[in-house]
Amino acid sequence: MTTYNWNDKHIITFKDKDLALETKDLHVFYGAKESIKGVDMSFEKNSITALIGPSGSGKSTFLRSLNRMNDTIDLARVTGEIWYKGIDINRPEVNVYEMRKQIGMVFQRPNPFAKSIYGNITFALERSGIKDKAILDEVVETSLKQAALWNQVKDDLHKSALALSGGQQQRLCIARAIAVKPDILLMDEPASALDPISTMQVEETMLELKKDYTIIIVTHNMQQAARSSDYTAFFYNGDLIEYDETRKVFQNASLASTRDYVSGRFG
Ligand SMILES: Nc1ncnc2c1ncn2[C@@H]1O[C@H](COP(=O)(O)OP(=O)(O)O)[C@@H](O)[C@H]1O
Ligand SMILES: [Mg+2]
Repeated sequence: MTTYNWNDKHIITFKDKDLALETKDLHVFYGAKESIKGVDMSFEKNSITALIGPSGSGKSTFLRSLNRMNDTIDLARVTGEIWYKGIDINRPEVNVYEMRKQIGMVFQRPNPFAKSIYGNITFALERSGIKDKAILDEVVETSLKQAALWNQVKDDLHKSALALSGGQQQRLCIARAIAVKPDILLMDEPASALDPISTMQVEETMLELKKDYTIIIVTHNMQQAARSSDYTAFFYNGDLIEYDETRKVFQNASLASTRDYVSGRFG
């Protein structure tokens, strides 16, 4: 059994890059248990960043804190700063509902509403007072096109979303998330409940979305991380251990722990 020095860290410094989001000294506690232990992490605009690490290392906890989803967990307490467009969105006075229109989320299991395909996509817009059918039609079409689902469903927009396949439901959830035109999309293992073909389609969708969005994705699938992300971050036991360009992390990681994890020798 190899022993690693978990005090070693290798974290990329972004120079002259536009950043979409930055955390400073982020901690997450569930009751007395500290699940994120002071993470400083920056995300480059219009890039895909993959968060990897063994089960229980804190990837989901960290991702959820980025748009305050941990607010809904009574036990959770998040300290530190999360900078987005010059605002620390972790401050209590921030309007979380408005912030989440900028920083959207796609969950592990597709969770379409029990509504039509059309109704899923227009839900948030209608809720914010947009009633104009021409505008809604336009958003439905562009969102479905961006999520690579338009051709398959364009004649069935008023059918139930629940009748779609799992992969189509997940792409619908992506379309629903981008309908409000967020800046940043957080995705927690969006393909883990899907078959290989749907997984590839979701990956292709992500590459397409990168032009317009900053994507942060948790994945336990090393091939997926290697194929589709620009940057990869290795989490272990609540810490960010290594963070670099994906090519570097997979071919020539700085730390032995990262090298062993990405090559499947532990975790
Ligand atoms: N809602 C929760 N309540 C209490 N503990 C939690 C909760 N969610 C996660 N944890 C704990 O926090 C740690 C990190 O979990 P998680 O973020 O889900 O890891 P990962 O996504 O890397 O598998 C684990 O020890 C887990 O048991
Ligand atoms: Mg998780």
